[in-house]
Amino acid sequence: MQLSELLIIESKAIQLIRKTGLWMLEQRVKPMDIEIKTPNNLVSYVDKESEKKLVEGLSVLFPEAGFIAEEGTGEKADVWNWVIDPLDGTTNFLHGVPIWCISVALCYNKKAVIGIIYDPNQDQCFHAVKGNGAYLNDTLIKTSSQTSLRDALLVTGFPYDDFGREDQYISLFRALMKNTRGIRRLGSAALDLAWVACGRFEAFYEYGLNPWDVAAGVVIIEEAGGTVTGFHDGDPIFDEDILASNSYIHKELRKIIQIHFTV
Ligand code: IPD
Ligand code: CA
Ligand code: CA
Repeated sequence: MQLSELLIIESKAIQLIRKTGLWMLEQRVKPMDIEIKTPNNLVSYVDKESEKKLVEGLSVLFPEAGFIAEEGTGEKADVWNWVIDPLDGTTNFLHGVPIWCISVALCYNKKAVIGIIYDPNQDQCFHAVKGNGAYLNDTLIKTSSQTSLRDALLVTGFPYDDFGREDQYISLFRALMKNTRGIRRLGSAALDLAWVACGRFEAFYEYGLNPWDVAAGVVIIEEAGGTVTGFHDGDPIFDEDILASNSYIHKELRKIIQIHFTV
């Protein structure tokens, strides 16, 4: 598909996502039925309704594409798929912590070609189309120019229902805590990635994620000049672990991750 066609799809998708995000903001004050998917993995009607609105709107926008959506709406197609997290940061949302977003990517086979991450609390829309740069609302963004890991601020996520690699995770955390400017844990993997893309953090790493958590962030970071890989040789979108950085500190950080996180 031509860049010009992708840009039209992107701009219509942004309108839909912004509208859905504003609807989600209105739901914050209402009492919510919370379902527990697995221990600590929560879902509310807001996740489900938001996904329904997005799938309905995106189906009209680009009928050829299928869906890989967290709450299971829609069917996957062979080539083109929208990869959707209708509410990334559900635990924050339900606790009134204003750090959550919508994350939507359009993937061609396994590659994301459009990425949109919308934070309704700050009205910040991070977006990119492959080959056209990355933006925060209308402003072009770049990853940070920090070259020293020692002076880097990192962000990560803690697993909440898969503790199989807990010891490795803690030993990595200990090593990085002592050798960087600090590590943050926001509770929304998509926003973590968006904030690497615009230079607030130098890098993000996490394991145990799903494609809908990261697909949009991957193309946004790459278009902002960053690098995204797995901890080892895995696919950063479709496998479980991801390291995303400003490029400069990638090699050094990945080496430390590999020492602690063996295959
Ligand atoms: C979660 C958030 C969190 C990450 C979890 C994700 P959800 O997504 O991105 O930061 O640590 O692994 O599952 O459940 O709020 O959509
Ligand atoms: Ca998520
Ligand atoms: Ca979610």
